[in-house]
Amino acid sequence: MKHLLKMLDLSKEEIIDILNLADQLKYELKHGIPHPHLKGKTLGMIFQKASTRTRVSFETGMHQLGGYPLFLSSNDLQIGRGEPVQDTARVLSRYIDGIMIRTFEQKEVEDLAAFGNIPVINGLTDFSHPCQVLADLMTIREFKGRFEGLKMCYIGDGNNMANSLIVGCLKVGMAVTVACPDDYQPDSEVLEFAKDYPDFSITNKPAEAATNADVLITDVWASMGQEKEAEKRRIAFAGYQINDDIMKSAKPDAIVLHCLPAHREEEITTAVFEEHANEIFEEAENRLHAQKAVLVKLMA
Ligand code: CP
Ligand code: NVA
Repeated sequence: MKHLLKMLDLSKEEIIDILNLADQLKYELKHGIPHPHLKGKTLGMIFQKASTRTRVSFETGMHQLGGYPLFLSSNDLQIGRGEPVQDTARVLSRYIDGIMIRTFEQKEVEDLAAFGNIPVINGLTDFSHPCQVLADLMTIREFKGRFEGLKMCYIGDGNNMANSLIVGCLKVGMAVTVACPDDYQPDSEVLEFAKDYPDFSITNKPAEAATNADVLITDVWASMGQEKEAEKRRIAFAGYQINDDIMKSAKPDAIVLHCLPAHREEEITTAVFEEHANEIFEEAENRLHAQKAVLVKLMA
């Protein structure tokens, strides 16, 4: 593994390897065992979109690993004034040891990896959010103890989270059902990948998708960059909400995850959110541990 660009690039073995190391790093942190695997290494972090979790967990994670996190807002970089990503990649490769980037187009991340010669980590694009899904898988395994025989149901927009969850959950051996409005389907490349899995199904009926689910996941109806469509989306996604009725379709011991930030009373009710806050905030914490594992795999 040279980069983390999207879940489609990872094998099941690579995913499990990352999760095992993440569990170990979480244990070491909780028990005060130092783990300075990245002493002397610098991670550049380019943000073209807002972030709370990704920024703070990468920055803290690098610090805990003995390395240095360098926050690079695109407003301050020449990239924000049109310097090509190909040149930025080649320049940064001369100074630092790895790049994390949050941006719009997946192609920009792929170009950064292709033109530079240091590891690149996708911290979210419109297409995928692999760091989040590694943390989600870590959380599922923590709460359920396994992947095989479990069913993950995603309800909502066929966005970066849907794309990455479908691929990640199928690869580790879970059954996956998705409920999206017809006009907001996951990416065609992801559907092409998923069609070979007999345990994958997609519908526009949330209650049907949630039947007997062990894990329910949703995400915002309007992602970053789609703010102008928010009103139109509120209409299109009415009914695509995790609420008490949907919970009745799922298994009684189902867990609920949300990558956050959440819009209460849109994609999830306040009641369900608060009832499952324990899982949701463990998931947020696990961003730190899962990303530290990725950093060690790529940069140590
Ligand atoms: N879930 C997630 O990526 O959060 P941020 O946008 O706050 O980084
Ligand atoms: N789909 C959301 C995820 C935020 C972490 C977005 O892209 O804004």
